[in-house]
Amino acid sequence: MRFLCCLQVILFLLFCSKLSAQSPTNATSLDSLLQDYSFRAFVRPRTGILYEGTVPSNLTGIKIAAMRLRSGSLRKHGVSSFKEFKIPSGLIVKPYVIRLVLVYQNLANYSHLYYPLSGYDYVAPVLGLLAYDAKNLSAKNLPQLDFKVSNDPIKIDFSDLERIPQGSSAKCVRFDSQGEATFSESIQPGNTCVTEVQGHFSVVVKSVASAPSPAPPRSEKKKGSDSNTKTWIIVGSVVGGLILMCLLLFLVLRCRNYKKQEKMREMERAGETGEALRMTQVGETRAPTATTTRTQPMLETEYAA
Ligand SMILES: *[C@@H]1O[C@H](CO)[C@@H](O)[C@H](O)[C@H]1NC(C)=O
Ligand SMILES: *[C@@H]1O[C@H](CO)[C@@H](O)[C@H](O)[C@H]1NC(C)=O
Ligand SMILES: *[C@@H]1O[C@H](CO)[C@@H](O)[C@H](O)[C@H]1NC(C)=O
Ligand SMILES: *[C@@H]1O[C@H](CO)[C@@H](O)[C@H](O)[C@H]1NC(C)=O
Repeated sequence: MRFLCCLQVILFLLFCSKLSAQSPTNATSLDSLLQDYSFRAFVRPRTGILYEGTVPSNLTGIKIAAMRLRSGSLRKHGVSSFKEFKIPSGLIVKPYVIRLVLVYQNLANYSHLYYPLSGYDYVAPVLGLLAYDAKNLSAKNLPQLDFKVSNDPIKIDFSDLERIPQGSSAKCVRFDSQGEATFSESIQPGNTCVTEVQGHFSVVVKSVASAPSPAPPRSEKKKGSDSNTKTWIIVGSVVGGLILMCLLLFLVLRCRNYKKQEKMREMERAGETGEALRMTQVGETRAPTATTTRTQPMLETEYAA
């Protein structure tokens, strides 16, 4: 019985940890998965053509694309339009490969899940620009290639930004392969970010909630939705807390019940041997039992048992 109770507690804890951890949101494994799926877009691929890939249904919303290129040609000509990226000539890939695949990622509404940034809000999706060896187009878990510009930087066009709260300034952010974020001073004219190396890129503003000074006047709509989400978070946590407390209470009561029953049984057992207890349960009433007496007071019905 005690075992059963423990099992319940363990199951409950597992349930809780599952709630908080949810599905794995590991950006490194996402890169691997998206490498695989973007390579699948290549069916008899032609060099220098952009192929749009399809993501698994559990990642619907993420966009991927891939282009196979010769290293030499990439270095000489660059790629004038690789989705939002403008890659100039002079790109050097390390280690050297004859052909490479440039993989494009647009994490859309998954950006904050895979690249959480406390204190900042995304005003653009996280875009990835990565390179892999093109030798084996059915390979999985390929290592990423490093690349670096030798002349002009790579430009990233974020012209389609979400509305930036008044008084906030947008910053470019880059994530390296370890997920470390580097911020630029501010976004460049024309909502452009620049980079010299591969990685993941986006545009952020400081979170309004974390702004130290009383924020400058914001538009009514933004304020409304802000307090709305806050209310929902509060209501959600209160309801969640109540449910958790009820579950815990239920478990505690359950455990206590088991303990009580067990004590009862122990007492009965002790009573049967007639040594430990002076008082013993006889049917519904308690009756004293002499320690010297070996004969037990019993109900007739118990003989039948
Ligand atoms: C992500 O997964 C990779 C293996 O796929 C592992 O090496 C890495 O440590 C994981 N990172 C985190 C933050 O869990
Ligand atoms: C999504 O589905 C793919 C293929 O079914 C699986 O390999 C991957 O682990 C899943 N990813 C997540 C984050 O659930
Ligand atoms: C992202 O949006 C798509 C629809 O565009 C939806 O199917 C998906 O569930 C959303 N994912 C997340 C994590 O919000
Ligand atoms: C390419 O990669 C796949 C999957 O890892 C492997 O089965 C296949 O043998 C590789 N092909 C070559 C030519 O290396």
